[in-house]
Amino acid sequence: MLSAADNELITRTGPGTPMGELFRRFWLPVALASEVGPAEAGPTRVNVLGDQLVAFRSTDGTIGLLDAACPHRLANLFWGRNEGDGLRCVYHGWKFTADGACTDQPAEPRPFCDRVRARAYPVREAAGLLWSYLGPPETEPPFPRWEFTEVAAGHVYASKRLQLCNWLQNLEGELDSAHVQILHAHAVGTLVSQAAAAPPRYQVERTDVGLLAMAVRSSPASENTAYWRVTPYLMPCFTIIPAPPGGPLTFTGAVPVDDVTMLGFTVTWNPHAPLSEEQLRVCREDDVLHVRVDPATFLPVVNRGNDYGIDRAAQAAGSMTGIPGLRTQDLAVQEDQCGPISPREREHLGSTDRAIVATRRLLLDAARALAAGTEPTQPHRADGYRCRSVAVEEPVEREWTGIVADAQP
Ligand code: FES
Ligand SMILES: [Fe+2]
Repeated sequence: MLSAADNELITRTGPGTPMGELFRRFWLPVALASEVGPAEAGPTRVNVLGDQLVAFRSTDGTIGLLDAACPHRLANLFWGRNEGDGLRCVYHGWKFTADGACTDQPAEPRPFCDRVRARAYPVREAAGLLWSYLGPPETEPPFPRWEFTEVAAGHVYASKRLQLCNWLQNLEGELDSAHVQILHAHAVGTLVSQAAAAPPRYQVERTDVGLLAMAVRSSPASENTAYWRVTPYLMPCFTIIPAPPGGPLTFTGAVPVDDVTMLGFTVTWNPHAPLSEEQLRVCREDDVLHVRVDPATFLPVVNRGNDYGIDRAAQAAGSMTGIPGLRTQDLAVQEDQCGPISPREREHLGSTDRAIVATRRLLLDAARALAAGTEPTQPHRADGYRCRSVAVEEPVEREWTGIVADAQP
């Protein structure tokens, strides 16, 4: 459990909050790159960390990400005209370039463009996502070296969903290896083939950029081998799902929109080969790792409003949940853990929650340290983000260090 005060501290990420400040020290995915169309498509709303922003693409391809409030009298720049070389506020016509410079004030008899700026944030387009750094310019870190941002376009598939709960509920679900063989039992797909194995042993180790959450099971195949699942947690809100060597890997990110809504980013990539037609079909259609969403709202098609498609007959017949699709099963439990912000002071944690406890401690310590003036080191370890998960059978005597090292790019 957490105290009610610590639960407030860890879940709230709006402007000026300690956790919000910590998030603002990292490069975060904020939208799909495909949401930001050509100039004539107009700007795109980007709502993250309690801030309202707009993204727009100039005719030269540059993307601007500005505070939605026009610096004049705060009209919303979402209504703005993208004129190809800048975004014009429709109220009194002030115009801003992608870097926030004001270039026109048509209604002013004596323009003072040089004394006004729109707040503009640095952006990067990588792996089909738009990334931004929303913190102070003087602490901007290098762009993290995620492996999926360095592979060819055909090797990677990215998606975004709107999830109706606080970001931490999703992150904790991603780190929670113990739920896999319970919640997802008899699920569609093949991720739970180890379901029959004995309960795992859990271990957590620190890394440069977060933690490794490890679950070790005795292998049903042989008493001389152990089955390792290692989920890297990368600060502040990212994980990589355990995956066997040689095939695709999947990244997850839980980026707060506000305290009760988050963007779930999922990226599947294959370092070795382009994603096959079948792998892409699973990403687009199967609600296993990615999920089908309404293209306008990004709400999952199967959602709380239709009880996540629960089929009580299927549940009675052997599916744990009766809910089709692993990702949908996760949404069903994460979106309401006694509300959109789970009251963690009421929990009773067990030994399976070790990685969750360690993650909370890391986040709370870093947020408190930053509030006291100590900058986090993790955002500056760009190479630490170049990291893979592990799902592998190994001889029982092997140490985790070698097993993890062998899996890395
Ligand atoms: S509010 Fe934007 S130009 Fe006046
Ligand atoms: Fe899950």
